[in-house]
Amino acid sequence: MIITVLHKQIQAVGADALILGLTEGDANMTGQVASVDTALGSVDGLPGQGAISRLLHLGDFSGKLNEIAVLYTNGLIPAPRVILVGLGKPDRVKVDHLRQASGAAVRRARDPGCRRVASMAHGLGLKHIDPADAAQATIEGALMGVWRFVAHKSGGNDRQVEQLALIAPEAALVERMAAAARAGEIVGNAVNASRDLICQPANVMTPPALADAAATLARDAGLSCAILDERAIAEHGMGGILAVAQGSAHPPRFVILEHAGGPGQPLVFIGKGVTFDSGGLSLKEPAGMETMKADMSGAAAVIGAMWAIARLGLPRRVIGLAPLVENMPDGRAYRPGDVVKMMSGQTVEIISADAEGRMTLADALHFARRYQPAGVVDLATLTGASVVALGEGVAAALFANDGAWAGVIRAAAGFSGERLWRLPLYPQYAGKMRSQVADLKNTAGRTAGVGASAYFLRRFVDGEGAYPWAHIDMAGMTFNPDSSGYQPKGPMGFGVRTLIRLASIFRTQGGVAV
Ligand code: BES
Ligand code: MN
Ligand code: ZN
Repeated sequence: MIITVLHKQIQAVGADALILGLTEGDANMTGQVASVDTALGSVDGLPGQGAISRLLHLGDFSGKLNEIAVLYTNGLIPAPRVILVGLGKPDRVKVDHLRQASGAAVRRARDPGCRRVASMAHGLGLKHIDPADAAQATIEGALMGVWRFVAHKSGGNDRQVEQLALIAPEAALVERMAAAARAGEIVGNAVNASRDLICQPANVMTPPALADAAATLARDAGLSCAILDERAIAEHGMGGILAVAQGSAHPPRFVILEHAGGPGQPLVFIGKGVTFDSGGLSLKEPAGMETMKADMSGAAAVIGAMWAIARLGLPRRVIGLAPLVENMPDGRAYRPGDVVKMMSGQTVEIISADAEGRMTLADALHFARRYQPAGVVDLATLTGASVVALGEGVAAALFANDGAWAGVIRAAAGFSGERLWRLPLYPQYAGKMRSQVADLKNTAGRTAGVGASAYFLRRFVDGEGAYPWAHIDMAGMTFNPDSSGYQPKGPMGFGVRTLIRLASIFRTQGGVAV
């Protein structure tokens, strides 16, 4: 999609559709909405008498968030359609609502085949919304809203928005809005890149293929990238990663991305990258197993976010780590009862081969110590229990060993509109992981599945060299069940925007996150 920022009267723009955002209530007949309304009125051209006013008076459109109405302009202006989209109550509008409205509206334009679209920057007139945020959110929402995955469709689908003109109502705003639109383009494309990786089937996106994809994105953004192969992983003693990978015909990889951005202790992002989770010898049931190609959504989020962080040139050092494995049953597969020596030196008794994500993350969390991180976040599709607790496409679970660090992450997630709900890390969860033959077991029985998995990870963070750490269990946030706002039905690209925002707002004072 080619994105431009234009200073022009929006009703004079030649496009297949014009997009206008309206808040609830009639205070909207100002600015760009009013000028389109007047242009769509009688020959007298009286303000407040045009087609938009009529629609509102008839009660056909109220301005509720993501509500859509389409008007046909009968030759009164160059664009044949005007798409109205609701932003909700003016004083309740948040930046994420602007993304949602933009996504819903641009998708509505795309579906009948509009190729050239002009949109106002939603929320620009609202006092509590920064104009740059309005412009950036409009672009992010548009890009995310029209994403779809056609890589494996014969013939594809050529209906797609090709050009988007963002209209600046004042010349003085053009420069700021253009910079914000460029940032929005990077962020939107990062989310879509992450969705593409998630959507690729596991026969295509094997661990080596995903590592190659990460390397290609890294080259494009100017990130440094190192990839450890099976031998290097073994030399590092990453026994958890090796154990999970040994049942697969595809060897593991360990991806290390680095954005040198600035001085100081880095942030480290870690993503679970299980390219397919069959459950291994603790085989999953067949129903729904195909969705386990998305068990690398954490890694996809880290890779997408790192690409954007480099492209945006954020002034801080950020490291992205992704242990990549496939979890398969085989003659060489790791078994229940096996004892595995981890990189940290701790030994783990395998109870379930399906609790594989924590085995790979534990080694990555231990590896992260070498960076003396200011803060670490891992993202993982770790437990079905988190989906049961928080739902599909609703929220991810957040765990943290540090309140200030959890606070910054929640602030970043709040701005991005990605819901996180903090759950406790009670030490009682550790009790059930006691093993008779090893230092700990890899599962803790039937209850508190989500808390126990987080506590397992904690065992590889605590002790000498511990750092502020947060774990995001995003198992419910791989596929969105229905399309809404900027989220088409399908892979969400969850986490990308929270990580980018986190890297841009994170500050420390005396070693503490503020
Ligand atoms: N990848 C799954 C978790 C998952 C479930 C992700 C549903 C997305 C949707 C993970 O590796 C897993 O199998 N977890 C087990 C853990 C159990 C064996 C302790 C689970 O949740 O059942
Ligand atoms: Mn599993
Ligand atoms: Zn898994």
